[in-house]
Amino acid sequence: LQPVEAVLVIFGGTGDLTSRKLIPALHNLKAKDSLPQHFAVIGVGRRQLSDQEFRKNLYPALRQAVGENLRADTWAELQERIFYRRFDFQDERGYRVLREFLEQTDAAYQTGGNRIYYLAVAPEYFGVIVEKLYANGLVRNRSGQGWQRVVIEKPFGRDLATARVLNRKITAVFSEKNTFRIDHYLGKEMIQNIMVLRFANPLFEAVWNNKYVDNVQISATETVGVENRAGYYEQAGALRDMLQNHLLQLLTLTGMEPPVSLTTEAVRDEKVKVLRSLRALAPERVAGDVVRGQYGPGRIEGGQVAAYREEKGISPSSDTETFLALKVEIDNFRWAGVPFYIRTGKRLRAKSTDVIVQFKALPPILYVKEHGELEPNILIIRIQPKEGVYFQFNAKKPGMDPSISPVKMDFCQNCDFENNSPEAYEKLLLDVMRGDPTLFTRWDEVEYSWKFVDQIAQTWGEDQRISSPVPYPAGTWGPAAAGELLARDGRAWWSPGG
Ligand code: BG6
Repeated sequence: LQPVEAVLVIFGGTGDLTSRKLIPALHNLKAKDSLPQHFAVIGVGRRQLSDQEFRKNLYPALRQAVGENLRADTWAELQERIFYRRFDFQDERGYRVLREFLEQTDAAYQTGGNRIYYLAVAPEYFGVIVEKLYANGLVRNRSGQGWQRVVIEKPFGRDLATARVLNRKITAVFSEKNTFRIDHYLGKEMIQNIMVLRFANPLFEAVWNNKYVDNVQISATETVGVENRAGYYEQAGALRDMLQNHLLQLLTLTGMEPPVSLTTEAVRDEKVKVLRSLRALAPERVAGDVVRGQYGPGRIEGGQVAAYREEKGISPSSDTETFLALKVEIDNFRWAGVPFYIRTGKRLRAKSTDVIVQFKALPPILYVKEHGELEPNILIIRIQPKEGVYFQFNAKKPGMDPSISPVKMDFCQNCDFENNSPEAYEKLLLDVMRGDPTLFTRWDEVEYSWKFVDQIAQTWGEDQRISSPVPYPAGTWGPAAAGELLARDGRAWWSPGG
């Protein structure tokens, strides 16, 4: 599939996502000659800016994101095709002006009526924008030519009920085929690699089940705090910000059955089955198996940082969680009895996203009988910042001494070529231009993930024992209760750096 000519309309053109992710991704695609020849970008926002000012404002964040890979000639060519239109998302007139401008753009850039409407705005505008695009003839354009696609950033609703309402509004205008619900984790190289590692290597697939696997850990730790996103984050918390989307996506890719083919729907079918097989989290299980934390003051990379409740825009009595750890079970034949432990948090000791597969202990015979228990085999899919695969296994220590010790094989995919992996948004934008929705979330994935997450949110809302998160000092691995969650099962979290 080749990317085809299109106009990319970014609602939220003056926002962070546009300057920090989307424009750098377009720059990099252009530098690799991967953008379609006939292409233009229109930013839409509420600030009064000329095209020139808009382009100029994009530059500092672009330079920061792309660093030494910034190419002046690429940017010069790209920015000539970037425009800006100001209007309020509620204002019908603005949409009509946009429609006319799009028609002129089609004529000037030969973009054939193809449009990508990228909604990089606060979620309360998703529905409004889609309705107004339709009402003002921007979806099936007058000449009837071309296709129109919508890309929707997260969060897709704040629970199942609101997600359903939003989805109804979107599907009234765009078909599922033209709806791209973005989860940028799916654009990450090593996350795409999970299926390849599993299904292109008999070595791994043969042991990827409850006969050999003791437990799986899915861990996404961050050092950043809430940054400038207080308004959004106070509503979301780690539960909605990370678990409902990124982490459940990682869980489905790690746990799914081999699909019948590599087609979009075959892959998505298998992912949904994992979500449908998740064991229900009754209130008692939420109380016991879900740990909720919030960062206090502490030290990150040598510097003192403030508590969450002291951050700009955060209520001093906020009960929003910035950390979450939980144990989930997949009730199917492959995984029955294998716990999946998931954790994520802000202001933790290190930034690292990993899938850790720990294999079962050996029976107490042969070497175990002689030497005592051996270290488990561990396979780690390292998603970021280091991309690669790590494998720990036991070997004889060289020499006369018959002792056995764990050794490791550490394949680092991005070590030789620092910053060489395409950014997630590059891959995903290209896929939208190609019309390939494989790495986007299908509606039923959203539906089942909210069903799962709602059980936790509801219990938190109702159960006084867990209505407040446990504090943890910034710069640690989170609340002690997260360690106890595994210690209780005789296990421990694997953490980067040991
Ligand atoms: C975003 C969340 O979706 O993912 C952020 O809203 C989080 O809170 C970010 O920091 C993490 O993404 P990455 O690519 O840095 O792991």
